[in-house]
Amino acid sequence: MKFFILSGSHRQEAQTLKVAKYVQAVLAREHPGAETHLCSLSGNPLPLWDETSGGAPDVLWDPISAELKAADALVIVTPEWGGMATPGVKNFLLNCTADEIGHKPGLIVTVSAGRGGTYPVAELRMSGTKNNRLVWIPEHVIIQHVEQTLGAPDGTADLGKEDATQRKRLRYALRLLEEYGKALQQVRVSGVIDLKAFPSGM
Ligand SMILES: Cc1cc2nc3c(=O)[nH]c(=O)nc-3n(C[C@H](O)[C@H](O)[C@H](O)COP(=O)(O)O)c2cc1C
Repeated sequence: MKFFILSGSHRQEAQTLKVAKYVQAVLAREHPGAETHLCSLSGNPLPLWDETSGGAPDVLWDPISAELKAADALVIVTPEWGGMATPGVKNFLLNCTADEIGHKPGLIVTVSAGRGGTYPVAELRMSGTKNNRLVWIPEHVIIQHVEQTLGAPDGTADLGKEDATQRKRLRYALRLLEEYGKALQQVRVSGVIDLKAFPSGM
């Protein structure tokens, strides 16, 4: 099973990237046969969607597109910024097509330095998948007080209660995501999907 992980912070020293790397490490360690690809939006590598090119330039998007097409499941990690998912995450979802991620399961993981993180869950559940047909799984994970969590290696004896709880929750969500990954493969090969007749969602 192949997992595509997006780190959605534009900041170079992003805590979100730490969380995305933690997700990648858990998948490598605890999911036999899992392959991962981590894509980071640190430094804004993708320009805002532009009408003249119809999306990100091919030279930037083609390698990402190939990884998305190869993936069975996605993990989208976004910080809460101003009570929102980042502009980079929304721009990324705008660039994604159903050909790349349609009917693949997505896990939302949000990140906050404090007690935030709920708004981007609500935002992503409501928008960003109409045309690309990504399927958010019902479980999501909110990483709060991120600077105090997910830093120490697993197995560290004196993890705080919140840290231990968040790690457990993240592991559970990733195990579920893998099962949705297997299940939705059936949908994609069913022959029912008709993107020619219905290129856009309603
Ligand atoms: C522009 C900006 C807006 C932010 N707004 C929020 C917010 O609305 N809620 C919140 O919990 N944290 C907010 N934060 C703090 C983030 O939770 C914090 O930066 C955290 O480390 C995750 O972001 P990072 O991955 O960029 O490090 C904001 C940070 C930035 C840079």
